[in-house]
Amino acid sequence: MSRNLQLQKDLHDSHKASNELTYSKYLALDKVLNAQSRQSNKHDEMLFITIHQTYEIWFKQILFEITSIREILAAEYVDEHNMLVIVSRLNRVWEILKILTNQFVVLETMTSHDFLGFRDSLGTSSGFQSYQFRLLEIYLGVKNELRIQRENKSFLEFFEGNEKQVLQDAMKDESLLTRIEKWLERTPGLEENGFNFFTKFKKNVERMIDHKLTQAREMPDKERREREIESMEKERNHFLNVFDENLYNKQLKAGSKRISHKAFQGALMIFLFRREPRFHTPFQILNTLMNIDEQVIKFRYDHTQMVHRMVGTKQGTGGSSGYLYLRATCGDRYKVFLDFNNLSSYLIPPSWIPALTDSMRRTLSTYDDMNYLETSVNDVLQLNNDVFGVTPPKECPFKRQDSAV
Ligand code: HEM
Repeated sequence: MSRNLQLQKDLHDSHKASNELTYSKYLALDKVLNAQSRQSNKHDEMLFITIHQTYEIWFKQILFEITSIREILAAEYVDEHNMLVIVSRLNRVWEILKILTNQFVVLETMTSHDFLGFRDSLGTSSGFQSYQFRLLEIYLGVKNELRIQRENKSFLEFFEGNEKQVLQDAMKDESLLTRIEKWLERTPGLEENGFNFFTKFKKNVERMIDHKLTQAREMPDKERREREIESMEKERNHFLNVFDENLYNKQLKAGSKRISHKAFQGALMIFLFRREPRFHTPFQILNTLMNIDEQVIKFRYDHTQMVHRMVGTKQGTGGSSGYLYLRATCGDRYKVFLDFNNLSSYLIPPSWIPALTDSMRRTLSTYDDMNYLETSVNDVLQLNNDVFGVTPPKECPFKRQDSAV
């Protein structure tokens, strides 16, 4: 052990002896800082270990955040006051992922020759066996059937013991995607006996396409006319993919759609009416989920580029084809919230968006604010009771009578 490390160890030991909570004790630095054991005597292996451990600690934090978000979303009716918590935690995940992607540049200060100097000491260990990364994929909702297969084996077969069990258990839980899907299915305005958004949307799209077709047919220039008519027919077919529920479900089964038809309608409604106060936060949630997806893809892509540079097209230490395998993981298969990106192709100009009825507008505007006011007032009354012994009235005095639409 070097003199420096010995001094650090002595320091930790001396702190250990006292009962005071010190910085080192609180952060368990004796464990953390003594967990970098090189397998070779090569200088750059230290960086290799530090970087990987840093990634794993951040993965742990991300999993912690996603678990809490999934718990909030597990409720049959999600308390809207928690929406901001979801947005801020999702944003945190996104910011961490950005840091993780940027960290590869530090590792790239090591040349491929330097890496080769200790690569053999890694044996068969590989990032492929990072069970926290697999958990991240599972928690988010990567579809198992869409994974790139290695040697016709499930990725689970590359794990054993407790890690394998944790992964199997996680696969039985509902992913973030599933919880978001269920939440979207309850979007206000989808009720067939209420605002009935999707029927109105369909009708307007059909009228919009008919209108454009009429305009196209009147075009004097033959070539332009035919081109426009063809493009309008293509647009009609494009919308048919989501208007016809059976057709939609086939795509869902094939994996090109990830969320149910109902959830798709909810997401579309949030996108179109994002300016309505009650949809502000749901819109931010959908946007941040796309940001997260994009950042995971960037992580995969930057890692793949780095691997190409470090080892060319050599086989990976984990036994895959290396760069070629990794390159295949950078596509849409691993995009969890793909449907939200695709929503943009179903957006229509504002003049064709179905008009909100008065009651629907009320539902999407102040409804929740009034609930919030009631909650806040009740909190104050409860506080009065706790501190001054004043009994709160049974009914909130500011309760709005016409809040439910
Ligand atoms: C010199 C640096 C690195 C090299 C050469 C490298 C190489 C590879 C290779 C070849 C694979 C494919 C599996 C295999 O056959 O081994 C892989 C997978 C993986 N590596 Fe790295 N890696 C490096 C650094 C990192 C770092 C810093 C991380 C951060 C956690 C990481 C995380 C992963 C993950 C999560 C996978 C699995 C990807 C998937 O299957 O989708 N790698 N790596």
